[in-house]
Amino acid sequence: MNGLKIDENVIRYIIGNPINTDAVILDTNKIKTDRSYSLKYLDIDEDGNLNYYMSDNDIIYGLGENVRGLNKRGWIYESFCTDEYSHTPNKRSLYGAHNFFVVHGKENFGIFIDSPSKVIFDIGYTDHNKIKITCENQNYGLYIIEGNSLNDIVKEFRMLIGESYIPPKWALGYGQSRWGYGTETEAREVIRKFKENDIPLEMLYLDIDYMERFKDFTVDRTAFPSFEGLVDDCMDEGVKVIPIIDAGIKVEEGYPIYEEGVEGGYFCTDKDGDPFVTAVWPGKVHLPDFLNSRARKWFGEKYKILTDKGIEGFWNDMNEPALFYSDKGLESAFKRAEEIKKENIDVYSYFELKDNFNKLANSIDDYKSIYHNVDGELINHYDVHNLYGLNMTKATYEGLENIDENKRFLLFSRASSVGMHRYGGMWTGDSFSWWEHIELTMKMLPALNMCGFMFIGSDTGGFAGDTTSDLLIRWNQLSLFTPLYRNHTSRWSRSQEPYAFDEGTTKIIKNIIRFRYSLIPYLYSELMKCIKNNDLYFKPLTFEYEDEFSKEVEDQLILGNSLMIAPMYKQNSKGRYIYLPEKMLLCKLNHEGKLLFEVCNEGSKFFHCLLEETIFFVRKNRILPLVESENKVKDLSLKELNLIAFVDKKAEYTLYDDDGITKECKKNKFNLVKVVIEKISNKYELKIEKAENTALKKINVVIYDLEGRKETILREL
Ligand code: GLC
Repeated sequence: MNGLKIDENVIRYIIGNPINTDAVILDTNKIKTDRSYSLKYLDIDEDGNLNYYMSDNDIIYGLGENVRGLNKRGWIYESFCTDEYSHTPNKRSLYGAHNFFVVHGKENFGIFIDSPSKVIFDIGYTDHNKIKITCENQNYGLYIIEGNSLNDIVKEFRMLIGESYIPPKWALGYGQSRWGYGTETEAREVIRKFKENDIPLEMLYLDIDYMERFKDFTVDRTAFPSFEGLVDDCMDEGVKVIPIIDAGIKVEEGYPIYEEGVEGGYFCTDKDGDPFVTAVWPGKVHLPDFLNSRARKWFGEKYKILTDKGIEGFWNDMNEPALFYSDKGLESAFKRAEEIKKENIDVYSYFELKDNFNKLANSIDDYKSIYHNVDGELINHYDVHNLYGLNMTKATYEGLENIDENKRFLLFSRASSVGMHRYGGMWTGDSFSWWEHIELTMKMLPALNMCGFMFIGSDTGGFAGDTTSDLLIRWNQLSLFTPLYRNHTSRWSRSQEPYAFDEGTTKIIKNIIRFRYSLIPYLYSELMKCIKNNDLYFKPLTFEYEDEFSKEVEDQLILGNSLMIAPMYKQNSKGRYIYLPEKMLLCKLNHEGKLLFEVCNEGSKFFHCLLEETIFFVRKNRILPLVESENKVKDLSLKELNLIAFVDKKAEYTLYDDDGITKECKKNKFNLVKVVIEKISNKYELKIEKAENTALKKINVVIYDLEGRKETILREL
């Protein structure tokens, strides 16, 4: 248990009679359980709200995917999975419901609310120094987690919720997507263009366009006459085709999935027990009852239709679930429109008229009209809303496991709640091509890691709206570091593939993607170690540095063991202020794709960084391993390692690697290379402490000391 004492550091309180959400999987007998309502740190007021009184300097980290800062203070957030297409700061919920946060200040502890219903976190919004947590449903589990450090608190929480999903290693390659690759010809054209421009491409994502009228597990044979041929040809090029699957199943006689669903009773129902009708992309749909184990099994098996065609990964979407309208809602909106048609519509009636239509989507009334059959028990959807996306992805995961239990499939989802992190990764949904959304993405990353979501990333370039070449470049400079690196956009946006602008832009983005492949062994090593040890891949500075100034930093992150990143996210910027809590080694990827280094003093200063340059830092006494770049992850070789080291006296690094495709890593089948660089009587020495079963043949080390002196070591094994 990593030396942490769960039994001493975690207290579980049971409020009311909570249902099992699948979030916490650690044997609860190991956790101190209290039913007394006399809570540590918090009080419960007469309305059942949980209150905590913050001091002025307390910082609140966490809450996963949501708007605003790294420090969540000063806003009100709602955990209610929402199909929210516009991530502006006035919003309170996005697609995920991630009820874990850490208080850091006069007291240090974590809180997890284990509830499937809406939870409102008022973090100093109503009252500057007060956290008020309102659980709409008063049946929930409350976990208070203590520990010696922020890292320990998060680690303990992650031990409660179980090991995160492990993607295949190839999923760290570059992926190209677009809602709107509408035909096989267009899809092939993308592959051709990447090849022509010699840009690495690992995955081609297909959006709803490949389906026949947006029906899951079908193929539009007019647009994609030889879908199988496309998948095969892509495979020959080393590119995986990753199709989307949506939650709603089209209501259509003769469509086998619909018919089986009705016959098997696999759909959510209305109060009378008839399949609930709503609408999404295909028009009228039924919603599979993912909370029902029989329905989950049935839906999970359907993925075989596509894996039989050679598909090895999926993205699950619209699973909050997103509802466009219901018949009831639509009828009442039309009725009201008819009523006021002939009136002289004043301002209020005009707004009401508009709202009647605008509010059709994701209506609370509709959510309250849906029922799940949770293995015999009828449960209203509204009470368990946040479990829908989780259970869709669980269905997929288990379905894929039945197809091949030892294979790692790529899988990520839009909606999620804590627990889903064990079944898949997630992407941050429909961002806009706005500079602010590079910044927002950066701020969500550590918060998502805290809640167990490790395989994460955003739509590089922004999903909605038109991107610009500079925005796309800067966004790539952030995605370069996220485990999921995918360029995706909407059908109404201008093209944003790396080659969609001028030659200069193509070259810059190509350099970034090529550098990504050099970095993948490090990124994968850190991702896997963080999954195995319940650590954070992205951390706010405070998790590693205790100085006062680090607490203020909202736009720089620690990435794994060795790096600090400080992405550029302002239009027209030629650099930015960056704070170094200690001396660090600046690494600059220049316009030619070459890495340049410079030792920098601690403190805050302006760092120049032109559009064509990517900068990041190696921390003091840390080592960054790099390899020769390739066009595919499978071709990356660990025979020769290039180590960039910034060392005062001693630094060490352990590079993790495994086969990347099977689940043998779960049985501790992996390889480690451990290197130590130490200054002994004024000279640096390289020790290789571990390298069993590895391909390693050669190590090239470049070492910078604190004064910027450079030494190199070459070692053949
Ligand atoms: C949703 C998804 C987006 C996708 C679109 C069409 O908006 O978030 O990624 O492109 O649906 O399927």
